[in-house]
Amino acid sequence: MTLDIQPNPEQLAQAAADFISAQVKAKPDLSVLVATGHTPMPTYAELARRVRAGEVNFSRVTAVQLDEYLGIDDDDPRSLWSWMRRSFVAPLGLTRTVRLDSPRQFEAAIRELGGLDLAILGLGPNGHLGFNEPPSPPDAPTRTLALTPASLASNAAYWGELAVPTGAITAGMDVILAARQTLLLVGGAHKREVLHAALERPETPEVPASFLRRTALTVIADEAAWA
Ligand code: GLP
Repeated sequence: MTLDIQPNPEQLAQAAADFISAQVKAKPDLSVLVATGHTPMPTYAELARRVRAGEVNFSRVTAVQLDEYLGIDDDDPRSLWSWMRRSFVAPLGLTRTVRLDSPRQFEAAIRELGGLDLAILGLGPNGHLGFNEPPSPPDAPTRTLALTPASLASNAAYWGELAVPTGAITAGMDVILAARQTLLLVGGAHKREVLHAALERPETPEVPASFLRRTALTVIADEAAWA
């Protein structure tokens, strides 16, 4: 595991953009599992700046959706597919995407890609990855599930007055842990306890992110999340 602690969220975004850019330069047709959520947004904005400046080219990269609410249309402001398109696919100039519609379709699409090269992940305040809610063992498959009260509460921050949908579909732990590289981005004091649990305490389905230590993991966190 590589642990990179950055002084603030801006530096975190620079370091994460450096990491992702290096992967794309080494393999221009990279397949990437893409988290939404607040943490990676400055990173994606920095990547978009680099694309506009001609410093890196994402046109052959495939973006793979990590998670989604159930029963949400594409034009609903809560659509995570639309959030991924708006924040990553469009500004970085990607033409290839894999949408998470059903477990079978998703698993077949990943097989066709030859597996995932990189998973860009955020850390749920309850230790979830995507919507792999605790408890999620390492072999938890791609599936639909009911969100836990903790995730309903943390996701409320995204949608203002709109209710958080109660059902979700997520890339399985099996898919995430099979990625050839994983990148976990963590910012803010509210993540400190769960970050330490994920990296330092014994692996447990109660903290699904703890299983990331089985992978080629890079963690980029800010001081607030680590100190
Ligand atoms: C959300 C999402 C995850 C995200 C995580 C952290 O519930 N399902 O995909 O990575 O929680 O979100 P944030 O970066 O906003 O803290």
